[in-house]
Amino acid sequence: MAPFRSKLPDVGTTIFTIMSQRARELGALNLGQGFPDYDIDPRLAELTGEAMRQGHNQYAPMEGVPELREHIARKLAASYGGDFDPQSQITVSLGATEAIYSAVQAVVGKDEEAIAFDPAYDSYEPAVRLAGGRCLRLPLLPPDFRYDWDRVRAAVTPRTRLILFNSPHNPACTAATPGDLDALAAIIRGRDICVLSDEVYEHVLFDGRVHASVLSHPELRPKSFAVFSFGKTLHATGLRVGYCVAAPALTSELRKVHQFNTFSIANPLQHAIAAYLAERPQTGRELAAFFQAKRDRLRAALAGSGFVLPPAQGTFFQLLDFGRLLPPGDLEFAERALTEARVATIPLAPFYAEPPKLSVVRLCIAKRDDTLDEAAARLADFAAQLSRAGA
Ligand SMILES: Cc1ncc(COP(=O)(O)O)c(C=O)c1O
Repeated sequence: MAPFRSKLPDVGTTIFTIMSQRARELGALNLGQGFPDYDIDPRLAELTGEAMRQGHNQYAPMEGVPELREHIARKLAASYGGDFDPQSQITVSLGATEAIYSAVQAVVGKDEEAIAFDPAYDSYEPAVRLAGGRCLRLPLLPPDFRYDWDRVRAAVTPRTRLILFNSPHNPACTAATPGDLDALAAIIRGRDICVLSDEVYEHVLFDGRVHASVLSHPELRPKSFAVFSFGKTLHATGLRVGYCVAAPALTSELRKVHQFNTFSIANPLQHAIAAYLAERPQTGRELAAFFQAKRDRLRAALAGSGFVLPPAQGTFFQLLDFGRLLPPGDLEFAERALTEARVATIPLAPFYAEPPKLSVVRLCIAKRDDTLDEAAARLADFAAQLSRAGA
């Protein structure tokens, strides 16, 4: 038999899975993959059981449970202004990942192009390639990871159909400004280009920053698929419930893919989340303070260690800069941190199509305080060893 011809020959297991697996094998603390190590609100677990006992165990509506979409619409209106019609603009998806995948399939055709910014979340490019398209990746570079909008403008061609945008940004820990959104809007003005705006960290912005959502931008909103995740908002990445917000014409195209991709999302979970949001309509608002305290705890514990912690404007992450202690090489550093300090981190190189020389790795702060304290102590010891070795 002829060898199987892979559609994604260069795609292997993601760095997140590899690091989590190795952390387990080595008994290391896992500050790599972005998931909490603390319990969810027990009320959500109760409501999930109740939803199953109430009999919400058969197929949910393809576009999502109406009560849940109504809560989402109210929340979006409160956060971003304007009206959101749950019937024609909100689709419940299997996490943000499915919303990204389905939106890309809905928009990008064979030999068409999408633009993503590196370091880019790892599902973007494979989704574009499986649609038969080409993903052009424009680098954002440390320390500031700023957008070069002239370069983006120059990268647009008549084949460009989609720009994949992410703010607050994983893994750069930066937040887009209203000026960034204006620049993006100017670039796609008058062109047949949509935006996929990955806003899964919409609530996790620090130091009083306000999230610049495409949904509050009058020119971008009609051209965008905005993607969100209850896994992030409810500290429960295993829920796999997210949603996509888009204008009716875009939503209708998205649903054509969604209905043959996942068809519909776990019915009891959607009912449980709807009931939870009915009891706690402010859900999400507490996240900025919660994660800012964790960021500050980790930063304080590593101050003076020799590692530098660049400013983090948002997300569940904090970058760690090892450039004062070791030459650039984030893959090598992540390996040494894992085996010598017993702390799993995530290098940034796998988020780039063409990785520059990097002196930063990503740490996940969605961890119990004692996990963060222990990880910081191990990393500080490691830094001291490195300084002694270099001295
Ligand atoms: C930037 C970004 N987009 C999308 C996702 C995927 O979200 P979900 O777990 O809801 O599929 C993640 C998860 O880590 C993420 O960091």
